[in-house]
Amino acid sequence: MKKRLVYLFLLIPVIIFITGFQEDPKKFGYIGVEPCVMCHKTEKQGKQFDIWKNSGHSKAYQTLLTAEADKIAKEKGFETPAAKTEFCLKCHASGYNVDASLIGKKFKVEDGVQCETCHGPGSHYKDMKIMKNREEAVKNGLIIYENYKDLCVQCHNPESPTYKEIDFSEAWEKIKHPVPKN
Ligand code: HEC
Ligand code: HEC
Ligand code: HEC
Ligand code: HEC
Repeated sequence: MKKRLVYLFLLIPVIIFITGFQEDPKKFGYIGVEPCVMCHKTEKQGKQFDIWKNSGHSKAYQTLLTAEADKIAKEKGFETPAAKTEFCLKCHASGYNVDASLIGKKFKVEDGVQCETCHGPGSHYKDMKIMKNREEAVKNGLIIYENYKDLCVQCHNPESPTYKEIDFSEAWEKIKHPVPKN
């Protein structure tokens, strides 16, 4: 009996951790690309904005507005246009499925696969004080990756109706956007 009680007490921090963990993502809101660009644009910062803007990711939503996309959606059995089909949006956009209260004034779904699609909604980590401290930023919703491939396969996989197998190292060379070391 006593032993079981001990186990019960051991469980309490686990439960607090899990519920805390689940609550957090809800309050983080999407702010859009523009506010990030203020600090991630110049040569010295690493030109993240230009690199993203010139990549396929910035056009991923626009692609859904084409006749070809609507045709693919129809062939898949959807009755809605591609840009209104959740199945398509989940890999081509962000923010389309969250409460309006979590969408900032500058957020544009048209920006497709954008900064916050990969790095998490930025309302709580965007301030300089937090951004400068990786640990704090992560606590406030920033997502960073040990291995970028784990991220790529979330969308570059056979569920994509136009799936092409890609070499992730080559693809990463095209879209990587490191902060220059000085
Ligand atoms: C007020 C300025 C500012 C804003 C706004 C800002 N950042 Fe940052 N960010 C920084 C600074 C400073 C760093 C620290 C790294 C460096 O650039 O030296 C950083 C680091 C990062 C990192 C790397 C974290 C790491 O430790 O690997 C990511 C990813 C990032 N920012 C994404 C974003 C995204 C996405 C947005 C918009 C939602 C954003 N930032 C908005 C200033 C900012
Ligand atoms: C397709 C996904 C994707 C998109 C879109 C994206 N990033 Fe990243 N970003 C990554 C990955 C993966 C890394 C490398 C691992 C990490 O630091 O998380 C990274 C790294 C970074 C870093 C840290 C670089 C370093 O050297 O430490 C910054 C800063 C950053 N991104 C900012 C941005 C900003 C700003 C945007 C939008 C203009 C953006 N990212 C768009 C996936 C993405
Ligand atoms: C949220 C979904 C998503 C994630 C995550 C993602 N991608 Fe993509 N990626 C797309 C979509 C959608 C397109 C097609 C954009 C278009 O043409 O409309 C694309 C296109 C690309 C292209 C351009 C293909 C071409 O035409 O040459 C490259 C390169 C690429 N992704 C690399 C990556 C890499 C590397 C990662 C991981 C770090 C990654 N992507 C993560 C959705 C994603
Ligand atoms: C699992 C993620 C995923 C889903 C779901 C998805 N896409 Fe894509 N889509 C991608 C990726 C990644 C690319 C870029 C490379 C490729 O074709 O695999 C892409 C590329 C495209 C392209 C450009 C193809 C080309 O050859 O340039 C079109 C058009 C497209 N998708 C339409 C759609 C439509 C319409 C839907 C919904 C019926 C949809 N996608 C659902 C991930 C996805």
